[in-house]
Amino acid sequence: MATTTSNEEVRREVSQTAQAATSAPDLMARIIRVLHERMLKYNWVGFYMIERKADQAPILVLGKFEGAMTPHTRIRLNEGICGAAASSGKTVVVDDVTQDTRYLACSLETKSEIVVPVFVKGEVVGELDIDSHFAAAFKDEDRALVEFCAALVGKYLEKHPA
Ligand code: SME
Repeated sequence: MATTTSNEEVRREVSQTAQAATSAPDLMARIIRVLHERMLKYNWVGFYMIERKADQAPILVLGKFEGAMTPHTRIRLNEGICGAAASSGKTVVVDDVTQDTRYLACSLETKSEIVVPVFVKGEVVGELDIDSHFAAAFKDEDRALVEFCAALVGKYLEKHPA
């Protein structure tokens, strides 16, 4: 039995399970289940989606996640690594969270983090956030895998507007 799973295999598994999704939350749940189960350094995997209400600043709201409960269920766009990714529209990779003053701690065990925005028609609507108990866990191939997963959700939301 194989002891490691390549990112390519995981990408295929994600694509396969995505085809069976019946709603956007179902798609997000399917994606994070595969990533959390198959990528052994991905210790917390979750989506935050932007809530926009009239007369209120937009805010990231915790959606589907796998891993320990986080105290950060609502994050303003000017807070945390999550806020930085959402407000810049760029993937943020932090190799050592202790060295990043923006970091909001979810778990004392977290050492590195990646946050990838989800776009619908060019606008950020949410993000896929992953924490690792290992420093510098997110290499270029991880970034490519996580960006692929975030794009799947963006494409789904474009086709199935809420
Ligand atoms: N670390 C994030 C907060 C979310 S938890 O990691 C799940 C941040 O700095 O924005």
